[in-house]
Amino acid sequence: MQETGKSAVVVGAAPEGSSDPRSAARAVREMFSAIAPRYDLLNHVLSLNVDRMWWRRTARAFRHILARPDARILDLCCGTGDMTFALRRQAGKSAPQILGADFSHAMLQRAAAKSSAAPKSGPGWIEADALNLPLPTAHFDLVTSAFGFRNLADYDAGLREIVRVLRPGGECGILDFGEPGGIMGALYRIYFKQILPRVGTVISGVRGPYAYLPASVERFPPPEEMLDRMKRAGFAESTWTPYTFGIAGLYRAKK
Ligand SMILES: C[S@@+](CC[C@H](N)C(=O)[O-])C[C@H]1O[C@@H](n2cnc3c(N)ncnc32)[C@H](O)[C@@H]1O
Repeated sequence: MQETGKSAVVVGAAPEGSSDPRSAARAVREMFSAIAPRYDLLNHVLSLNVDRMWWRRTARAFRHILARPDARILDLCCGTGDMTFALRRQAGKSAPQILGADFSHAMLQRAAAKSSAAPKSGPGWIEADALNLPLPTAHFDLVTSAFGFRNLADYDAGLREIVRVLRPGGECGILDFGEPGGIMGALYRIYFKQILPRVGTVISGVRGPYAYLPASVERFPPPEEMLDRMKRAGFAESTWTPYTFGIAGLYRAKK
């Protein structure tokens, strides 16, 4: 959301029809709750299963933290939990504490159902707003977010909240879509803007969310700007690594 005038400029997601950060957040929550029953299927179909590789690669990037049994990990905007489960799998026997957080009850219910097969070693789940986490300050060794951060109604507030809950030296990994350049980018844009919204709408049976997806990626700050925002929020050593020609990419930083 970009507002000018007397109020400070707020940069964040703005689904169609939203007029301020509060209505944007409500629209985002309603949208994900509406598509929750078909979310996993759609994810895999629309990404041709490449999403699994991105989650795995992100989890691998933090294997040094996940290998510590005493580590505390928070996966923000966890949705149905696929990033959270990838972290769990990468951690293996070290079994650190892993918590998935999301503000859509319907998405979390599906995450919890997926982990009910192994409740003891599985992650914990909490219904919470990423912009106002009911979690202690300086608590986590790692905070991740996969394809969720872009949906926050205020990116700077989101970054500040991640900084708050991380302990000094803790790390952050934000995996999200990017906009590839060149011929690959041109082809991808046709798929992302023309084909994906139509297929997504048909399979989910819900009009709106799959038109919002390309629009939200277009609004999301480019890597240089995100890295700058991360620095201003209090992070050091921030980097961006493109995945699959830059269709997605991982932001990493330390508190
Ligand atoms: C595209 S899904 C990503 C889910 C999962 N991380 C994945 O990789 O499949 C985005 C998720 O972010 C959640 N979300 C968006 N804004 C949020 C906020 N302010 N607080 C908590 N969750 C939020 C939505 O409810 C949704 O489940």
